[in-house]
Amino acid sequence: MSQIFDLTGKVALVTGTSRGLGQYMGRALARAGADLVITSRKIADLDPFKAEVEAIGRKAFPVELDVRNYDSIQNAVKAAVAHYGKIDILVNNAGLNVRKPAVDLTWDDWNLVLETNLRGEFFVAQAVARETMIPRKYGRIINIGSVTSVFGYAGLTPYCASRGGVKQMTMSLADDWGKHGITVNCLAPGWFKTSQNAALYENKEWLEYIIDRIPMRRPGAPQDLDGAVVFMASDASEYYTGQTMLVDGGISTGATRATVAAK
Ligand SMILES: NC(=O)c1ccc[n+]([C@@H]2O[C@H](COP(=O)([O-])OP(=O)(O)OC[C@H]3O[C@@H](n4cnc5c(N)ncnc54)[C@H](OP(=O)(O)O)[C@@H]3O)[C@@H](O)[C@H]2O)c1
Repeated sequence: MSQIFDLTGKVALVTGTSRGLGQYMGRALARAGADLVITSRKIADLDPFKAEVEAIGRKAFPVELDVRNYDSIQNAVKAAVAHYGKIDILVNNAGLNVRKPAVDLTWDDWNLVLETNLRGEFFVAQAVARETMIPRKYGRIINIGSVTSVFGYAGLTPYCASRGGVKQMTMSLADDWGKHGITVNCLAPGWFKTSQNAALYENKEWLEYIIDRIPMRRPGAPQDLDGAVVFMASDASEYYTGQTMLVDGGISTGATRATVAAK
């Protein structure tokens, strides 16, 4: 049974691996046997993670990548394919957030979030599919969404729009590329503490509020994405495509203060 989750011999490109969830998921794929392509806009920032992956016994090939730049995407994918000869798995993780009341959002805020989180994921997927997955008739594409792919939150309008778009894009690409042996799914994490949101977790009142709404009674921890990402990357998910899988401790059940009293 464990063979269907084994990634030995596979190559996984995980975008945005200088820190945060990209590293969590890259680690899980490497532990399952995959060699990695790791990326950052500043290639030197990848040195510690490269060393960590090599200590697990897997390879890590660092490439510079800015998902807001078309040429950077093409160059990064070509370099990765030239290095390994293929990419079997793509984890489209690079992303960011701008938190502001909707009335204060600027044109540039909107473009920054949508260009990075939605346009970026599409063009990385397109380059990988065109360059290696379609010719080889094999691929596992994992687009990172969020609980905001299915929920809306005040202060997160462009982010929610981008993540809802990722969910819809995932279904379209699954339909388009299924005939090429490529599965396309969306892995949607709930609330995980990383450097981009660490300040929120210092706010005790906010933390209690959010935990009240999570049936598992805690925010996400690094290992919480391991099972889902390895499943979506492996032969175990050969007949699973176009889906959005929420890994959110159950917050998308819609738990509210009204239900907290019952717990
Ligand atoms: N943390 C959460 O609770 C949570 C929940 C759901 C979904 N997510 C999503 O998961 C992903 C990772 O989040 P995180 O919390 O780990 O964030 P993070 O710690 O800020 O890491 C973001 C990563 O994305 C990369 N990145 C940002 N802009 C980029 C660009 N233009 N081109 C290429 N790479 C870029 C960064 O690389 P460099 O700066 O080194 O270039 C970095 O490695 C994001 O897409 C986020 O929206 C996070």
